[in-house]
Amino acid sequence: MNNQILLNHLRCIPDWPIKGVIFRDVSTLFKNQQCLKLMSDELVNIYKDKGITQIVGIESRGFVMSSAVAYHLNAGVVLCRKPGKLPCETIQESYAKEYGMDTIEIHKDAITEDDVILLHDDLLATGGTMKAACKLVKKFHPKKIYCNFIIELNTEFPNARDSFDPDIEITSLLKF
Ligand code: PRP
Ligand code: ADE
Repeated sequence: MNNQILLNHLRCIPDWPIKGVIFRDVSTLFKNQQCLKLMSDELVNIYKDKGITQIVGIESRGFVMSSAVAYHLNAGVVLCRKPGKLPCETIQESYAKEYGMDTIEIHKDAITEDDVILLHDDLLATGGTMKAACKLVKKFHPKKIYCNFIIELNTEFPNARDSFDPDIEITSLLKF
């Protein structure tokens, strides 16, 4: 995959949302047709033979590629959202992330034991968000769980990937 094109289009914003954080703004990848297609093609290529039945997109930047890739994999999309946004009964998990605490939730009837799940988010920093999402998904006892990120900040957070349960297969399109 031509990672350089993605790197060239990624916008980095210093001191946002708080001082000391360099915010990797993937909206510039989403709005570029070539980048959007590259990311979608690569994800479809990685997961095409895995039997994925549902892609769990993490609010909000995780929703974009989840939908594009689900279309091509013939899978569905499940929303993993911040509290108070989902209308039916939910299960919740709270977690620490790079700049504070947060909670995510998922509908109680969103996943079945027959599902093969791909969780997707834009970025892996501490891993707090995705590990909380995995914890929620595991409660449904799906057949298998995969995780993907557009960006893995493995220089700043070298231990994040290893802090996941070893049965969860993780991929990322860009690592730096
Ligand atoms: C960002 C990003 C991931 C998470 C990664 O979202 O989109 O979800 O942080 O960080 P972690 O690996 O340390 O958990 P953020 O929490 O800023 O929420 P937002 O989508 O509301 O901006
Ligand atoms: N989430 C946590 N850390 C982040 C960063 N540096 N850029 C974008 N999203 C983030």
